[in-house]
Parts: sequence; structure tokens; C-alpha cells
Amino acid sequence: MIIAVDGPAASGKGTIAKALAAHYQLPHLDTGLLYRAVALNLLRWGGDPSDEKEALAACDFSQIDFDDPELKSEAAGGVASRISVYPLVRAALIKRQRDFAEQPSGAVLDGRDIGTVIAPQAEAKLFVTAKADVRARRRHAELTKLGLQTHLEDVLLDIQARDERDRTRDMAPLQQAEDADLLDTSEMAIDAAVQRAIALVEARL
Ligand code: C5P
Repeated sequence: MIIAVDGPAASGKGTIAKALAAHYQLPHLDTGLLYRAVALNLLRWGGDPSDEKEALAACDFSQIDFDDPELKSEAAGGVASRISVYPLVRAALIKRQRDFAEQPSGAVLDGRDIGTVIAPQAEAKLFVTAKADVRARRRHAELTKLGLQTHLEDVLLDIQARDERDRTRDMAPLQQAEDADLLDTSEMAIDAAVQRAIALVEARL
């Protein structure tokens, strides 16, 4: 079974994807981390995010520790959204994601284009969303917990800019797949959102 979980930044999709993976005992891939890793390489090398070739050269995970909290920073998220518009970067990351989706055990993947591009064959697809101000508050709390200091207003502006870029890019834009179930978590505590996600997946099996 493949479960695709897509949605904008801080919608709750990552937490929901993790909970679904635990519930169904499936491996989980946060695909945003791949784009963030490319961004972090560029930030560390002093590379230029507006140069597609440099971004392609940064698609190398040999020096990346996927537990590094810097991957979660707003700086890495912002650059990730800039370099994720490049067809060469998306193409370089596709195989890794498809191989993960197609492993015999099945898998849960979360991102922006899982249900539309990476695994359109997924048995269950969720499009997780929430109002921008709710998402900004969540992301701000998350960053504070990681020890990263930010202002709520800046986080909101970053989230809005990122959403706009992710939704309007030519290649694999953020959009709900036709056969995805919509889950708006604006008014939901995380436990309730997870229970609802499980019920939606069950209804598709
Ligand atoms: O989900 P997360 O916020 O970690 O993703 C960081 C950025 O990576 C997103 O804003 C988006 O531009 C990009 N991304 C993508 N496709 C995915 C996952 C992430 O373009 N499947």
C-alpha cells in the first residue's frame, strides 16, 4: 500500500504521515527533507540558488545528516522552495522518491507532488491543509522548540511566499490530486486530525 500525503508548509502533513506510517507499520519518507538538503548544501557552499546548474550540483547527499536541525530552518525551507522549481533538480530527486514508494512493503510519503507526480498510483491520497495564520503559529512553535529564534510575522510572510511559489511553479505545482481526500486541520487538535486521516485511508482500502 502506498499512502500519499501532500499539502502546504506546516499544515500537519508531516505529523499525519508519521502517524499513518506507525499505524500501518510502513516506512515513511519526508520528501521535503530532500529539497531542504539540496538547499543546505548550497547555503554551506555559498552557492547561488538562482542558478539551476549550481542547484543541480548540490543534489548530493553524501555530506548530509538527515537529523541535522538546520534542515528544518526557515533559511533552508526558503531556499528549498526556490530550487524546487528547477526541472533538473526535480528530475534528480525523482528516482529516490519513486524507489522508496515502490518498495515491496509499501510506504507513506509526504510532500507537495506525491499524489500527482511521484506516486499517482497510490491507494490513498490525502491533501492536508490549514489556514495560513494557523500554520504560521504552528511552524513558529516548532522552530522555537528546536531552539531557532524567529518572529511570528516573519514566519507568516515566509509561509505565504513559499505557498505562492509552490502553487504557481510550472513543474509539479502544489495541488490537490483529483482523487485525493481533503483534510483541513485548522480547527483540529493533532490527535483528531490523525484519527480523521486514518478514517479517510480506511475508506479507500
Ligand atoms: O515540506 P517542506 O516544507 O519541508 O518542503 C520544503 C520545500 O521543498 C517546499 O516549500 C517545496 O518547495 C519543496 N518540496 C517540493 N516537493 C516535495 C516536497 C517539498 O517541491 N515533494
